[in-house]
Amino acid sequence: MILPIVAYGHPTLRKVSEEINEDYPNLDELIENMFESMYSSSGIGLAAPQVNISIRLMVMDATPYEEETPEAKGFKKVLINPYIIEESGDEWSFNEGCLSVPEIREDVVRKPVIRIQYYDRDFNFYDETYTGVMARIIQHEYDHLEGVIFVDRIPNIRKILLKKRLNDISKGNIKVNYKMIFPQRKKGKKRN
Ligand code: CO
Repeated sequence: MILPIVAYGHPTLRKVSEEINEDYPNLDELIENMFESMYSSSGIGLAAPQVNISIRLMVMDATPYEEETPEAKGFKKVLINPYIIEESGDEWSFNEGCLSVPEIREDVVRKPVIRIQYYDRDFNFYDETYTGVMARIIQHEYDHLEGVIFVDRIPNIRKILLKKRLNDISKGNIKVNYKMIFPQRKKGKKRN
């Protein structure tokens, strides 16, 4: 089932997500729905807060890009209760976008190496290091679990320039080809 994606300005995107355990109801179904929602909107990562559920769960699949990005080979993951415990290396800039912030792409500066601890969907524990684009995808989705959105990480002047477009996203004054929840859309107004 495809789940609607909450748009920029929605309060759930600003919460710090809660950990879950094996007893979380219908977890497998939620994970499958998140993958389906991500694929149908051509995303490579999706965090649970983006489908309005404030838990520490994120899914990623970079395998559609493995031809141009060899390190993406086999990079399809479910991360539960992840914690980035270390970030290192010289900061680098990479152009990011987000399903909750349609049509906006901005260069974001982050460190290139991360060490992360998490559980997979069967609750096996991992302690791993990722670099480059794979680290970047994880960092972006991980931010959602902490209530952070990539536009928080761009220079203030850029954010001021984007202000109207961000407001339009919150109000639903955009064209988007996947289902979204717009926090400031006026009731009774249908656009997509
Ligand atoms: Co995002």
